[in-house]
Amino acid sequence: MKNKIYIFDTTLRDGEQVPGCQLNTVEKIEVAKALEELGVDVIEAGFPISSPGDFKSVVEVSKAVKEPIICALTRAVKGDIDSAVEALQFAKHKRIHTGIGASDVHIEYKFRSTREKILAQGVEAVKYAKKFIEDVEFYAEDAGRADNAYLAQMIEAVIDAGATVVNIPDTTGYCIPSEFGEKIAYLNAHVSNISKAIISVHCHNDLGMATANTIAAVQNGARQMQVTINGVGERAGNTSLEETVMIIKTRKDLNAYTNINTRKIYPTSRLISRLMRMPVQANKAIVGRNAFAHSSGIHQNGILKNKFTYEIMDPKNVGIKSSSLALTARSGRSALNHHLERLGHKLTPAELDIIYQKFLTLADKKKDINDDDLRFLMGEKNNDATIKMQLLEVICGTPLKAMATVQLSINGKDQTSTAGGNGPIDAAFKAVNQLVGKKVGLEEYLVQAITGGIDDIGKVHVQISHKGVSYYGFAADTDVITASVKAYIDGLNKII
Ligand code: KIV
Ligand code: ZN
Repeated sequence: MKNKIYIFDTTLRDGEQVPGCQLNTVEKIEVAKALEELGVDVIEAGFPISSPGDFKSVVEVSKAVKEPIICALTRAVKGDIDSAVEALQFAKHKRIHTGIGASDVHIEYKFRSTREKILAQGVEAVKYAKKFIEDVEFYAEDAGRADNAYLAQMIEAVIDAGATVVNIPDTTGYCIPSEFGEKIAYLNAHVSNISKAIISVHCHNDLGMATANTIAAVQNGARQMQVTINGVGERAGNTSLEETVMIIKTRKDLNAYTNINTRKIYPTSRLISRLMRMPVQANKAIVGRNAFAHSSGIHQNGILKNKFTYEIMDPKNVGIKSSSLALTARSGRSALNHHLERLGHKLTPAELDIIYQKFLTLADKKKDINDDDLRFLMGEKNNDATIKMQLLEVICGTPLKAMATVQLSINGKDQTSTAGGNGPIDAAFKAVNQLVGKKVGLEEYLVQAITGGIDDIGKVHVQISHKGVSYYGFAADTDVITASVKAYIDGLNKII
């Protein structure tokens, strides 16, 4: 029989602590509903005592979401627990997540206390929470660096006090997988009442091992994973939901399953990235822009013969329509032929050879080759059916309202428009929209400096959506506003 692994999502609590990623209550409700659709078992909606905003969010999420358990975080302090109980009053299924530091460094320096007193405080907190709510999860903060014998003693005591779930956090992301797995095995072997509770793990990614540590814990008997979407969270983040869930789905030998509707993973990832204004790195496992994009000639050739040569997951299973073969100077004839056939061109091997040489010359200059470029290579006269930027003028500053004027060549005809906006980029994009007349959503906007000096080239990536489909645009320029408008136009050209 396969083991059910419970998914405890803490995007709205640990994930939302990230500076600049705060969500308002309306946004939190939107996220909570998306998490419910995704199929998570528990939503940690906030830390009610920490602020009136967090309190309100727990109340509103409790009202909006019915299937998952709604959980509220507390310290092992009565006032925190009272606040959490009140915030959870409307939740259909509710849980208190209370706990205290378990490592000597926390006990000595954070609490200036002793192991005995801290253990007693943890037990008291569980007993107190139990008076109001049946489902009480206890966390032993910094368990990753705690002494295993003391940790086992603490866990046994809180289970006796009524804890239904015992959470073992690697708060500082210090453990390595073999060690963290052994910690869970140790608790399974040395806590006499362990069968009365579910073991949960909560890992941080300071050394890039949150996912590996979580899976090692599952291999040693953990049955709940605390995770966030896109791995957002304190410092280097938390264990990411998409990675751990897809590991469990892909590696059947783990003999486990989750309730996650994996086809909702990608849309949920996009939602979090947009609302938290936190771009997902292109090479991020499962949800990054390149996660299913094959670019080298050898790989593309293999994929065209049989997907299993280089693909261990079906992109559809995570909500991505299909994998893609990016055309760059490293692509081979087979990928070029694949794209030409897709555009309706059937070539003989000799014709393909000729086009391939032209393609390589263009790819060396242009880096990314799009459908328009292929049509141009094939001699089609549609290269003027694109949008080109002819002129950009921007006025901005404080306290001026940003204004932008753009002149575009659309289908070979020059047109000009002016718009105001919240900033120069908003104004310029609005002016472009007025000319193009398409309903386009901006899903992601990312500026990067290439080397870091103030006279540096800015690279801009945008992700825009049109009729539910995402398109990417890219441009580089020493002027980031020009690069932004060019990247936006690059995306628009793909729609057209
Ligand atoms: O990292 C941590 O230890 C936590 C606890 C509150 C579970 O976030
Ligand atoms: Zn944490």
